[in-house]
Amino acid sequence: MTAVLRGVGVTKRFGGFTAVDDVDFAIEPGRTLGVVGESGSGKSTLGRIVMRLLTPDAGSVTLDGHNLFSMSRSTLRLARRMFQLVPQDPRNALNPAMTVGENLAFQLRAQGVPRNEWRARSADLLEMVSLTADYTHAYPHELSGGQAQRVAIGRAIASRPRLLVCDEAVSALDKSVQAQVLNTFADLQKQLGVAMFFITHDLAVVEHIADDLLVLNRGRVVESGETHSVLAAPADPYTQELLAARSVMHA
Ligand SMILES: Nc1ncnc2c1ncn2[C@@H]1O[C@H](COP(=O)(O)OP(=O)(O)OP(=O)(O)O)[C@@H](O)[C@H]1O
Ligand SMILES: [Mg+2]
Repeated sequence: MTAVLRGVGVTKRFGGFTAVDDVDFAIEPGRTLGVVGESGSGKSTLGRIVMRLLTPDAGSVTLDGHNLFSMSRSTLRLARRMFQLVPQDPRNALNPAMTVGENLAFQLRAQGVPRNEWRARSADLLEMVSLTADYTHAYPHELSGGQAQRVAIGRAIASRPRLLVCDEAVSALDKSVQAQVLNTFADLQKQLGVAMFFITHDLAVVEHIADDLLVLNRGRVVESGETHSVLAAPADPYTQELLAARSVMHA
């Protein structure tokens, strides 16, 4: 199957420091790539490159076979809808001065959805993220962290993207809420067939959500493959360490 997203030799330097070093990855439609590694390993830098917020110094990233960094303006305009970000803090995605309904309508409008469809489409989006239409009139600050994150996910899927980039999207949530939001991600993925680039420092989270795994250490891939095989028999000492740290936390 053709990958939705493919990176080859992706490299990013900040001054003399190499934050992302010759990284390869691919995500097929409807699958989730978990990107793990300790703080500073280059996860967010790679995510920002995938979101086209940073330009790599070497290597290429393709979305549905189109090079992200050399596509025409018109292709880029289309592609913009195809990839969406779910950030760690939903307050970064939602406008605090707008109600939930207005936030979703704003996004639908940006996608060219006619005004008379905004209300029904917003209600659909809320339902897809397991919130009721009652939340339409609430402001972001009136929501719990889990609810706000659900709205941010609803906003991200408004354009029916092919790819969601999630950067620590559940890390700020309590464990029980985290599990619920992860289930919402999994349900949406089944429904929409969206591919996910799922960044987290938490191996318990990737175990729950990721089909495949990319383990970074100081910007380099130290391990990759199907999640269950990587976690069952980590080949790299760094991954073994990560796993050991996780079992201590769970003890
Ligand atoms: N704009 C920048 N300028 C200089 N250095 C940067 C910049 N952005 C990131 N870095 C450095 O690149 C390295 C990787 O950072 P990055 O944010 O990608 O790590 P991360 O894996 O997301 O970490 P965390 O788990 O803490 O979010 C770090 O050493 C960071 O200080
Ligand atoms: Mg980060």
